[in-house]
Amino acid sequence: MNSVRFGILGAGRGSDLAQAMHHVPTAELVAICDENKERLVTVADKLPTLKTYNSWAAMLDSDIDAVIVASPMPLHVQHSIDALKAGKHVLSEVTAATSIEQCWQLLEAVLSSNRKYMLASNYCYMRSWSIVMGLVKAGKFGQIYYGEADQIQDFKAGFPHPKQGYNWRTEELALRRGHHYITHDLGPLYQAFGERITQVVCLGSGQHHLSWAKADDTCIVLCHTEQGKLIRIRLDFFSSRPTNFVYYGLQGTDACYEAPRGPQDQHKIYIDGQTPQGTWQDLWEFKDYLPDAWKQVSEESVDDSYNGGTPLMIEDFSCCIIEDRRPPIDIVDALNMTAPGLVSEISRERGGIPVDVPDFSKST
Ligand SMILES: NC(=O)c1ccc[n+]([C@@H]2O[C@H](COP(=O)([O-])OP(=O)(O)OC[C@H]3O[C@@H](n4cnc5c(N)ncnc54)[C@H](O)[C@@H]3O)[C@@H](O)[C@H]2O)c1
Repeated sequence: MNSVRFGILGAGRGSDLAQAMHHVPTAELVAICDENKERLVTVADKLPTLKTYNSWAAMLDSDIDAVIVASPMPLHVQHSIDALKAGKHVLSEVTAATSIEQCWQLLEAVLSSNRKYMLASNYCYMRSWSIVMGLVKAGKFGQIYYGEADQIQDFKAGFPHPKQGYNWRTEELALRRGHHYITHDLGPLYQAFGERITQVVCLGSGQHHLSWAKADDTCIVLCHTEQGKLIRIRLDFFSSRPTNFVYYGLQGTDACYEAPRGPQDQHKIYIDGQTPQGTWQDLWEFKDYLPDAWKQVSEESVDDSYNGGTPLMIEDFSCCIIEDRRPPIDIVDALNMTAPGLVSEISRERGGIPVDVPDFSKST
């Protein structure tokens, strides 16, 4: 096999993924499924060669090799399990699951299948973060002991009132406390630390914007890693302010990185013994540390938005299937990136007590 035949479930985020697929030589997008006919028509107008399905079961019955699950978050586990049982490889949108119980169900299903499962954590593939990871792998950070991430996006308008009918975003992100969308923040940091989160503490600011919402305007999640290192994550979907969706910071014994705090800011790095003391260097000076896949992207095609690494992510997944190797964000990584956010709800509800995160690696 030198190309993987994909079907996408969900034509919302799924339509971005369908566009990204054009740039992946080892993947062939053949089908898309959505029960919403209007959405399907919109995608089919742009990509007329695609086979469209209203029925998920019918797409699973077809001769595709793999699916990208881009359905609503609470359905990811059920849809991933359906696909694995139908013999399809699964690239699941974030997050992997919306409860700890779902995490265990998914783990069991993946382990008892002989198919690949990977979490579509596209933020791990962003160009700026790929340079940081290149520097981490080259040992430039020394021992990493602190990381931070902020996900600040005024998303109030994206949460319809619960009385307007069921909406998964309202249900998961406005009516629950804690950080249930943590993978964009934790995913890249988890990769840099290379160890799982064992314990989480979460505190919140209260809700000052939507009278009916339960989630805090801002919540802070503190994560303790297996080796006793610290990660701080801020989630804010409610404050009226400019967006800063992808702020990351990383501190090691030998180097420090900070992403831009806003449009006037830049990606900056300090490397002890190399950068003049008290100053920063521009991260883009270190493009040599990019992986080959990013080096091969032509300057005109470079996309430094959150979605820019999506083709590289799909390529990585396809190659794992073709070469029969472990996906770079496998089931245990997916759960290690997801579960700290789920247990943050327990900590927040109980006044910020430390809560243990299950160890999913013990079952593998
Ligand atoms: N990685 C990223 O950067 C990123 C960005 C946006 C969204 N997402 C994730 O992508 C997922 C989808 O987000 P969205 O904004 O497209 O949500 P959405 O609710 O707008 O779209 C989901 C679609 O799935 C379809 N669907 C649900 N169940 C179905 C079924 N059984 N059969 C057929 N179709 C079905 C719905 O009709 C809907 O059109 C979410 O989990 C979200 O977290 C990720």
